[in-house]
Amino acid sequence: PRSTSSGPISVDLLRKRYGPANQSSVEDWGVWAKNQKEILRSKYGQNSNSRRSSGENLLTNQNADSTYYGTIAIGTPPVSYNVVLDTGSSDLWVADSSCGSDCSGMATFNSAQSSSFTNLTTSFSITYGSGNAQGSLGKDVVQLAGFSVPNQVFAVCDVISNGLLQSPISGLMGLAWQSIASSGAEPFWQTLASSGTWDEPVMAFQISRFSNISQARTLEPGGTFTMGALNSSLYTGDVDYVNLPQDAVTYWTLPLTSLTVQGNSVSLGTGQNTYSAIDTGTTLIGGPQSAIAAIYANIPGSSPGTGDFQGYYEYPCNTNVNVTLSFGGRSWSISSADFTMTKVSGNMCIGAFFELGSSNPAWIIGDTFLKNVYSVFRYNPPSVGFADLSKTALAMNAPGGNVPTATIGSVIAVATGSGTRSN
Ligand SMILES: *[C@@H]1O[C@H](CO)[C@@H](O)[C@H](O)[C@H]1NC(C)=O
Ligand SMILES: *[C@@H]1O[C@H](CO)[C@@H](O)[C@H](O)[C@H]1NC(C)=O
Ligand SMILES: *[C@@H]1O[C@H](CO)[C@@H](O)[C@H](O)[C@H]1NC(C)=O
Ligand SMILES: *[C@@H]1O[C@H](CO)[C@@H](O)[C@H](O)[C@H]1NC(C)=O
Ligand SMILES: *[C@@H]1O[C@H](CO)[C@@H](O)[C@H](O)[C@H]1NC(C)=O
Repeated sequence: PRSTSSGPISVDLLRKRYGPANQSSVEDWGVWAKNQKEILRSKYGQNSNSRRSSGENLLTNQNADSTYYGTIAIGTPPVSYNVVLDTGSSDLWVADSSCGSDCSGMATFNSAQSSSFTNLTTSFSITYGSGNAQGSLGKDVVQLAGFSVPNQVFAVCDVISNGLLQSPISGLMGLAWQSIASSGAEPFWQTLASSGTWDEPVMAFQISRFSNISQARTLEPGGTFTMGALNSSLYTGDVDYVNLPQDAVTYWTLPLTSLTVQGNSVSLGTGQNTYSAIDTGTTLIGGPQSAIAAIYANIPGSSPGTGDFQGYYEYPCNTNVNVTLSFGGRSWSISSADFTMTKVSGNMCIGAFFELGSSNPAWIIGDTFLKNVYSVFRYNPPSVGFADLSKTALAMNAPGGNVPTATIGSVIAVATGSGTRSN
């Protein structure tokens, strides 16, 4: 609760291991890759504009071991839950205590144990790739990053498809705009921003990179999420802001105005064909088929993936791929390490850019890009800004850091990541 000061407070993020549980199985990577694609197609499908009336929700990837999450607290007394902090959706959603074996190992919400909970007895349903989750809406005190919202509407889900949630994650907090909330409720962040609770109308992410570190553990420090201010020790230079198009204050939408591969420009079209969701809850980068094909046409030896890797491309692993993106302002580079999704055979790798198919917005810009910048989501004027990461931020991309623990509420499920990667 913020009683005495309104200064910024940061939350530590955790990073789950990227990719399938068995990192040495190409088959498992194929299933994981296919899943990524289907989840995004469902999250950003053609029906996205009717989501509110249909009651379908946007949910981030729950199956992919490639998620950045933080800890919130709900109720009186407060209990802590790990949730994906997802700028690609707008609802808060946690597992119910009656969820059963699909929720083993994670904290679940027991409404009977919170004296401040109100049941709104409104049903709620989420469709997510091949699975779904259902429950009801309620309201209660929710806390994050030192901020507290007393009557936050959220969904408590008791029917959850097998595998939809992976311990120790209990749910998801949407950080996009109310206009696309399935619940219709004002998102936690927007309540704080619109009520002037924040010093500055911004929230910001610095997320870590462990995908190219062989001894990375299942859980590693994930970076920092800050609400109400920027943390000047995490970036250098100025934040380069670009305003959201006025017709697209839904996701954190920016036009992708330029993309280069090995120094060559790729043709992107105009208008809505360039609209991109800046999405912390998505691992990779999805885009229109023609643009994705054009990217790989600049990488000698690349070819379309087959089987589970359909929609992806393979390319020679020893290529140093240099992709840059611009959203109307500065140009930002994606490291060659982030361009590599996984190795599939002797010398061939799968790239992190894949064909999204029909999607609105046309592009989903996930963590593959966001690991390379400090990213700022500004309420007013609605805009997204990027800046270069500082040496302090980059130093966090190294083994040996402490995995953060909850700082508010009683912790009823503890993350136990300590295994090492097998590749
Ligand atoms: C800013 O980030 C640094 C480095 O992670 C951290 O030590 C510091 O506490 C943060 N400052 C604020 C105000 O959150
Ligand atoms: C992981 O996959 C590899 C290659 O398919 C296989 O040899 C190994 O037994 C698998 N490991 C586990 C733990 O399933
Ligand atoms: C809210 O009420 C409905 C209908 O009575 C019930 O099915 C549901 O389990 C309740 N939700 C919670 C979180 O207690
Ligand atoms: C990547 O390409 C851009 C645009 O051509 C260029 O400015 C930049 O120096 C390149 N970066 C690396 C690491 O080669
Ligand atoms: C991982 O990739 C980053 C970005 O390219 C690079 O700076 C870093 O040295 C790499 N780390 C390792 C252990 O290879």
